[in-house]
Amino acid sequence: MSNQSTKSIYLETFGCQMNELDSELVAGSLGALGYRFTADADEADIVLYNTCSVRERAEQKVWSRLGDMKKRKRDHQPDLIVGVLGCMAERDGTDLIARMPVVDVMCGPSELDKLPELIDNAVRTKSSLAVNDPAIAIRRSAKQVALQGNASRRSSTLAAAGDSLESLDLGRMLSPVDFDGRRSAYVRITRGCNKFCTYCVVPHTRGAEIHRPPEHIIDEIKALADTGIIEITLLGQTVNHYRFEHDSAVSVDGILQPQKGRAYKGSHNRDAFAGSNTTTFADLLYRIHEEVPTIQRLRFLTSYPRDFGDDVLQVIRDCPRICRFIHVPAQTGSDRMLKMMNRGHSIAEYDEFIGRCNEFLHQPEIGRPLMLGGDIIVGFPTETDEDHELTKQLLTRTRYKNCFIFKYSPRPGTVAYDKIPDDIPDEIKKRRNNELLMMQSDISDSIAQEQVGTEFDIFVEGLSRHEHKKRGTDVKPGSGMVGITIAGSAMQSQTATLDPIAQGPTVQLSGRTDGDLIVFFNVPAVGVHSPNDYIGKIVRAKITGADKLTLAGELV
Ligand code: 5AD
Ligand code: SF4
Repeated sequence: MSNQSTKSIYLETFGCQMNELDSELVAGSLGALGYRFTADADEADIVLYNTCSVRERAEQKVWSRLGDMKKRKRDHQPDLIVGVLGCMAERDGTDLIARMPVVDVMCGPSELDKLPELIDNAVRTKSSLAVNDPAIAIRRSAKQVALQGNASRRSSTLAAAGDSLESLDLGRMLSPVDFDGRRSAYVRITRGCNKFCTYCVVPHTRGAEIHRPPEHIIDEIKALADTGIIEITLLGQTVNHYRFEHDSAVSVDGILQPQKGRAYKGSHNRDAFAGSNTTTFADLLYRIHEEVPTIQRLRFLTSYPRDFGDDVLQVIRDCPRICRFIHVPAQTGSDRMLKMMNRGHSIAEYDEFIGRCNEFLHQPEIGRPLMLGGDIIVGFPTETDEDHELTKQLLTRTRYKNCFIFKYSPRPGTVAYDKIPDDIPDEIKKRRNNELLMMQSDISDSIAQEQVGTEFDIFVEGLSRHEHKKRGTDVKPGSGMVGITIAGSAMQSQTATLDPIAQGPTVQLSGRTDGDLIVFFNVPAVGVHSPNDYIGKIVRAKITGADKLTLAGELV
């Protein structure tokens, strides 16, 4: 592959943390080939969008960006290369090319390891062809469309798919330059999803669930820890469903084996996935906690309310560096809706799980209250006022720290799109959405108020928003990750160059508790410790005030 050191790339990311991680990995591999990243889309030679298809709005944003690129290419930059990565590339495929011939490169989420090759091809083709001829764009793109279509790995062998999928994560570039100053990182443990909730496009775009070997995960975390990372968030669409069968190349649902030789020696009642040569989610958490003790905070996203054994809760309770935050969407408070959504559990089961989480993990007396996060969809087809009322009751009794509320968005290719008419008018969706947002805001507020007077360990992330505003510095893109934007905004760097003396006697910093509550606190601008010394470290602070979801603290 040629060295493309003169080409600059603008990469914008839409959607979830999984996409953020994909962008980071892709940026690492392109950076290693000599590509430069820019935060300014206008000066880029190559513009890449890592897209999300979960809701229509995210897709509309990409369509609008592609419209702008079409003009730019036509009017003054015919050799601009435009790439669509991620779920839209997987889902829309040839339709996308037909509708928007401006696209030169398309690459589905499971083929991203091959992106450098695709881009290299596109760069070479551009330099040797009359490039603003749409017919050529279509021909060229048609060739590259071959690198979507991996959702078809449901029907190909999972083992082969697993090998191919692993290469992007295994190739993670951990150059100290890229990680300069960063303290948090995502690590994928599972790809894809087998749940097929009727509204959700993810099983169609990201394919069948495949679990990464624990050795790969642990090696990756050790390497990240060596660069100074102290917080890891494990990622999976149904992260607690993690289960690796060591006898087979990949683990597949439904195979259970006799239990022996487990990593975690706690009791295993209600252990959903025990097996002799199996590493369960509980085992994995425990191994990471024990084998990489420099990781101060271990988180995981997103949990599925079923298949969550006591073994996992025990590990979380017994391991001090595993965070007390569980993001576990219910989607609705109505059993009737859950059935139509094919969620695979009832409200009673959800409540039972939340009860168990609280029983095991809610320990405010030691400064470790359990915080819960959720997702709710309003206006799913046929949702009545009674169903909506049940969702309100669920919010009231579950008391999420934060909950994302989404209006149902019909997604082509899903069962709901094909079989259940989207019959709830947008007015009603909006009203229900607003009602739940207001309720959640009150709940979040009262949870924040309850923390006043408690002491917490705070992971210090950087200057507070307020301090940035005061300095007019705004968030700076991180070195090595320059130009990567997430949902339209630049990726936040945790390296802030502080110039305290010019700014007053104190500097306001921002950090998070292990339950993911944001805390602001002041440190002296001058003295034994400079404000920079706090960033990336864990400090103890007492909460002195609360406003919605942000807490004010004082160092103790
Ligand atoms: N419409 C609205 N929200 C959706 N989600 C997934 N699919 C849809 C859809 N079609 C939400 C769910 C999920 C979150 C990531 O996105 O709440 O948990
Ligand atoms: Fe989508 Fe359901 Fe899988 Fe979550 S569990 S990714 S909502 S299909």
